[in-house]
Amino acid sequence: MTKLFETPVKIWLTGATSGIGHALARALLDEGHHLILTGRRQEALDAMAREAGEQVTTARADTTSKEDLAAVREQLDREKTVQVAILNAGTCEYLDVANYSSDIIEKNIHTNVIGTARSVEAVLPSLRSARRQGLPARLVIVSSSAWWFPFGRAEGYGASKAALTYFAQSLRADLAPEGIGVTVVSPGFVKTPLTDRNDFPMPFLISADEAARQIVKGLKKGKSEIQFPKRFTWMLRGFAALPQGLIDRMAAAMVRSQNKQEQNQ
Ligand SMILES: NC(=O)c1ccc[n+]([C@@H]2O[C@H](COP(=O)([O-])OP(=O)(O)OC[C@H]3O[C@@H](n4cnc5c(N)ncnc54)[C@H](OP(=O)(O)O)[C@@H]3O)[C@@H](O)[C@H]2O)c1
Repeated sequence: MTKLFETPVKIWLTGATSGIGHALARALLDEGHHLILTGRRQEALDAMAREAGEQVTTARADTTSKEDLAAVREQLDREKTVQVAILNAGTCEYLDVANYSSDIIEKNIHTNVIGTARSVEAVLPSLRSARRQGLPARLVIVSSSAWWFPFGRAEGYGASKAALTYFAQSLRADLAPEGIGVTVVSPGFVKTPLTDRNDFPMPFLISADEAARQIVKGLKKGKSEIQFPKRFTWMLRGFAALPQGLIDRMAAAMVRSQNKQEQNQ
């Protein structure tokens, strides 16, 4: 059986209209793949389709909407044959603990966990159909390394990405007997419209093009875990190995220093 990504395949990519997804779409098009691109903004999808010509089909959808995804599922069923789904659509909303609101937690979980779970529902029949034809198939879920450390204000985002990673790894076990691979992507800080809103230092920040390069490299190697940049993910792994009391003191010190900086501005 040909290894995935050795020859052009059909890929469904969500969150394609901006940041990492946009850069990833360009990198995959350069490799000759055919892409079905999803985001909420039709104009942005149309612009990408105009640029790429016949290599791109668009499938506008809000990935939290069951109705939108039911329509995408029909479209994916018609496309012959989707072998890869890269579920990258996501959001990051920070909690202001002085004005605590559970809505922030809900928004992160709704987009990052429920939206991805619904996207899996839309694409699983296509991946199973690929397997029935003897073709390789893979689900790629874009999580984050942010939840490996208890960063202040990230209660909602971190919880959503921790849940998403567990979801993906558990799905990996369940789909293994069917021969459908599951890859979890855990980036550090990547410069995108999502992180342009951050008002704190982002160590080892990389470009969206570099993130896309790392993802494509990992997928070509058939990796089930793709984590980058290594300097950042190893640092977080090192922190995670410390006693919890020390981790808590470091996290609280970071919050105090951030609060002080804000007061001095
Ligand atoms: N940037 C980082 O440092 C970083 C680090 C770790 C992980 N990540 C993860 O990487 C992924 C991409 O992030 P990014 O930084 O590239 O963010 P971004 O520039 O804000 O892009 C987010 C993408 O997701 C789409 N999207 C958001 N909500 C959606 C919804 N409900 N339905 C459909 N599409 C939706 C957006 O499209 P529309 O606006 O057209 O809907 C957009 O294309 C996210 O899952 C994020 O958590 C990012």
